[in-house]
Amino acid sequence: MTTERATPASTTAVVGLGPMGSALARALLAAGPPPVVWNRTRSRATDLAAEGAVSASDLSDAVASADLVISCLRDHATTRSVLATVPHETLRGRTVVILASATPDEARATHAWAVARGLTVLVGSIMVPVPLVGTPEAQILYAGDPALVERHRDVLERLAGRTDHVGEDPGHASLLDTAMLEVYFAGMTAFLHGAAMAAREGIDATTFAAYARDVLALLPDTVDGLAADVDAGRHPGHEDTIAMELAALEHMVATSEATGVDPSLPVLMRRLAHDAVAAGHGGDSWSRVVDVLRGTVRTPAA
Ligand SMILES: NC(=O)c1ccc[n+]([C@@H]2O[C@H](COP(=O)([O-])OP(=O)(O)OC[C@H]3O[C@@H](n4cnc5c(N)ncnc54)[C@H](OP(=O)(O)O)[C@@H]3O)[C@@H](O)[C@H]2O)c1
Repeated sequence: MTTERATPASTTAVVGLGPMGSALARALLAAGPPPVVWNRTRSRATDLAAEGAVSASDLSDAVASADLVISCLRDHATTRSVLATVPHETLRGRTVVILASATPDEARATHAWAVARGLTVLVGSIMVPVPLVGTPEAQILYAGDPALVERHRDVLERLAGRTDHVGEDPGHASLLDTAMLEVYFAGMTAFLHGAAMAAREGIDATTFAAYARDVLALLPDTVDGLAADVDAGRHPGHEDTIAMELAALEHMVATSEATGVDPSLPVLMRRLAHDAVAAGHGGDSWSRVVDVLRGTVRTPAA
């Protein structure tokens, strides 16, 4: 192994030095023993080595020097192909944390692949962008054996102040990652849709944003209420009903069409409400839409 400094007896290896892997390595450098770092394109380790990391030219040497191996490569196929180049006996006895983004099924497949090779593996999801890595606000979710998270918690908390074990099913960090991102993208897209309509009427996006924030402030309590209804399987409709909300959705579609803005988003929401009403749930609260999404309400044939 080519090193710029002596390798500590007990350390962490970071495999993959893209923007995220580099940020993880820097978070380790900032508070604790310097990590060993490895990347396919070696030049990406140059700056980190200058900052104090131990740059390894050989992946197997990097793994052999570490108790904990943090892999942050492009995807799970890449992760499997890279880890497959390391001899089994070198990987055995170390904990490998795989932080590439994946679907839940991919995460489970990678976990099964690793277990079949005798590896000890956690599959995680990084929930924050690069600048937040290593801060108290950073969040990384881990799925798999909870004892592994506890064993390495001191290192993992250097990567993210919020280090959450979310379950033993190795797909569940990826599942929550995907579902959380959906909420984020839906919110961003709805904002952009509203901003596009407002712009056509001469209201700029910054002006609209101030009002959009007022609505966003209602969402945390709204989500808690929806969650309680979904978990209880009750959709009371005491304060508002899908039939009433359908009128607002008609207004969104009409305004979108009138301003020449793609109406796909409000059309989708109107269709969900319409199907719930058509199935006899017009008097229920909006949470009933979950059953339309699940395909468990019966809509009369058109
Ligand atoms: N960036 C973010 O804000 C962010 C946020 C959350 C999660 N993530 C996840 O973190 C993971 C890493 O993301 P990233 O932003 O660092 O950049 P990336 O472009 O997704 O991944 C770059 C890394 O993958 C390596 N790589 C790609 N193909 C390879 C191959 N065939 N063989 C060996 N290595 C290969 C690159 O090596 P070379 O340098 O040699 O090309 C580099 O180390 C991804 O799964 C991403 O979804 C990223």
